[in-house]
Amino acid sequence: MSNDFYAVVGHPISHSKSPRIHSLFAEQTGEPVEYTAIQAPLDGFAATVGQFFESGGKGLNVTVPFKEQAWELADNRSARAEKAGAANTLYQNSEGQLVADNTDGQGLVRDLTVNHGVQLKNARILILGAGGAVRGVLGPLLEQQPTSLTIANRTVAKAGALAKLFRDEAGATSLNACGFEAPDQPFDVIINGTSASLQGDLPPLRTNVIAAGTVVYDMMYSLQTTTFNQWALDNGAVRVLDGLGMLVEQAAESFRVWRGVQPDTAPVVEALRND
Ligand code: ATR
Repeated sequence: MSNDFYAVVGHPISHSKSPRIHSLFAEQTGEPVEYTAIQAPLDGFAATVGQFFESGGKGLNVTVPFKEQAWELADNRSARAEKAGAANTLYQNSEGQLVADNTDGQGLVRDLTVNHGVQLKNARILILGAGGAVRGVLGPLLEQQPTSLTIANRTVAKAGALAKLFRDEAGATSLNACGFEAPDQPFDVIINGTSASLQGDLPPLRTNVIAAGTVVYDMMYSLQTTTFNQWALDNGAVRVLDGLGMLVEQAAESFRVWRGVQPDTAPVVEALRND
């Protein structure tokens, strides 16, 4: 049987773990998947996508800085992609239309709830950041019916705009927006979705947002403890998690969307930790 072709598109792309993750999924499931990485020129995303599908490619993952362009380019979008305003998964439907999906939010929720046993229902959640990464996960987080979801951001107006955008999805959840210094109660779950650590910065939170039972989750990951998680540990957090599991889970959900087969993620997370 000949292989079906998939790829991740980004700029830069050489450090992407997606080819490794999807190769492990293919090996594990026996699906005839070949998965590569493509660096699109910064002004050439649409052309790269067009060429890929014209030459018979089956599906693409999309990463920085093209997720919003992928969303715009699509003829159809899943409901979760529509609300996220960005897409990390593309494929063609049977009519040859380009379909966009976004599996990031499900990836985060599954990593927290399934892999780490963290209960989000009735939890008080603090999420930091109001950019594309946070917008992409708010819908799936709200579906878990937390008691409250507080969006804190450096630019408070952007947090406010996101809270407004997701008002109809909030249901009984108290959905709030504020600056980093405002929250002064402990939360059950704190999620860092800012890119502050890329500039060596930390969001200036009060330390009393952390209690002994707080689960701290950094959507970033690195070989060492992330800057944000180290800050949390230094200020009383007992349980800190990084975003490697989210990365593997969003990939697994893309794989399921494309192939109809659900890979087992645990051995893949384990393999990546040991790389
Ligand atoms: P992404 O796709 O990663 O979400 P983004 O849309 O550029 O990227 O959003 C980056 C997020 O990180 C924003 O919430 C940004 O805060 P502002 O909205 O105030 O710009 C946040 N961020 C980036 N650098 C930061 C820093 N040094 N300190 C605190 N927050 C920062």
